[in-house]
Amino acid sequence: MPPLRAAIAGTGFIGAVHARSARLAGARVVGVAASSPETARQAAGALGAERAFDSAEELVAAADVDVVHICTPNHLHVPLALAALAAGKHVICEKPIALDPADAHSLLDAADEAGVVAAVPFVYRYYPTVREARERVRGGRTGAVRLLHGSYLQDWLLRPDDDNWRVDARLGGASRAFADIGSHWCDLAEFVSGHRIVRLSARLLTAVPERVGSAGRKAFAADGGQGEARPVTTEDAALVQFETDGGALGSAVVSQISAGRKNRLWLELDGADEALAFDQERPEELWCGRRESVTILRRDPATLSPEAARFAFLPGGHPQGYADCFDAFVAEVYASVTSEAPVDGMPTFADGVRAAELTDAVLASAREARWVDVVAPVGALAG
Ligand SMILES: NC(=O)c1ccc[n+]([C@@H]2O[C@H](COP(=O)([O-])OP(=O)(O)OC[C@H]3O[C@@H](n4cnc5c(N)ncnc54)[C@H](O)[C@@H]3O)[C@@H](O)[C@H]2O)c1
Repeated sequence: MPPLRAAIAGTGFIGAVHARSARLAGARVVGVAASSPETARQAAGALGAERAFDSAEELVAAADVDVVHICTPNHLHVPLALAALAAGKHVICEKPIALDPADAHSLLDAADEAGVVAAVPFVYRYYPTVREARERVRGGRTGAVRLLHGSYLQDWLLRPDDDNWRVDARLGGASRAFADIGSHWCDLAEFVSGHRIVRLSARLLTAVPERVGSAGRKAFAADGGQGEARPVTTEDAALVQFETDGGALGSAVVSQISAGRKNRLWLELDGADEALAFDQERPEELWCGRRESVTILRRDPATLSPEAARFAFLPGGHPQGYADCFDAFVAEVYASVTSEAPVDGMPTFADGVRAAELTDAVLASAREARWVDVVAPVGALAG
């Protein structure tokens, strides 16, 4: 079978990660598109793409493309994904797939109608230690899940001169911190526990009411703000409490203004017999607490359960990380394009819809200062 032909719209932080993963998975990166033809030309050289498209619209419809990766600012996800699906392409669309639930549902419907693979990179699912945690819950080792708690903390938007297109609600959406990273935390909490969040109460904090900088600045790039001060309408941080369909309670603090924390997704699960803790910045370890003893389980394919070991590419003691998760995710999406074999745990547009519903509930709860029921998921939780 000839290699899949991938094309990538958006060549910033995550577009480059997608390009690497696509190549590692054996695809040809036939082209990229960026905010201008010139930027695309430069990016094509840097990312090893065969050519630069003049626009993302041209890229998503190109005849020689099998899989479109959408890695642009959020407001472009829906029009680009709809155009790609209409052209019969398989789509990997970055989160959030849409800025509201109605648009997210329309993407899911379009993908179903097109009969193609449509995936969303909730890539933290691909850490072997995360799979191990999920196996411990599924196999009954933790006992019934009673509490889910943790945080997702970053600091790259700490100061008034930190800026990015995400801050602007027209480009990033009405929710920033929760939609951007809280969605990852909730996806992971539901994925590991097998529970679904059914009700939640949220409070939002905009600690930096004005920012001075360029909305065009790349994510995580601290280049010093210049220009007019702009009012901020999106949240810097969110606090969410919730109940699940399995009778558990939970809470999460989500923040992009926590000094010193770079990408600290922390998830803790308390079961009747065992508690588990996963820290994205120390992903080689899973903390397993029992009343009699505490074990630090290390990522080692020789000792992990088979479901976790299939994502452990290196021997124990040879650390894997974030990029490896992306590689595993893209490889799995491509495998599901080329074969009918069922895949366990691959995040799809149904999970993108789920994130949009949770974000909508968080915004409604914060606005109305009350508990809000979350719309039921459209699909069964993978696995
Ligand atoms: N899954 C994850 O773990 C993860 C991590 C980071 C970002 N993301 C998502 O990826 C997306 C991009 O985020 P980022 O951090 O890479 O942003 P970024 O600012 O670094 O990059 C955005 C890119 O989009 C390009 N762009 C802007 N307008 C365009 C247009 N009209 N046509 C084509 N390209 C255009 C820019 O040139 C730039 O290359 C966001 O939706 C974000 O939520 C996901």
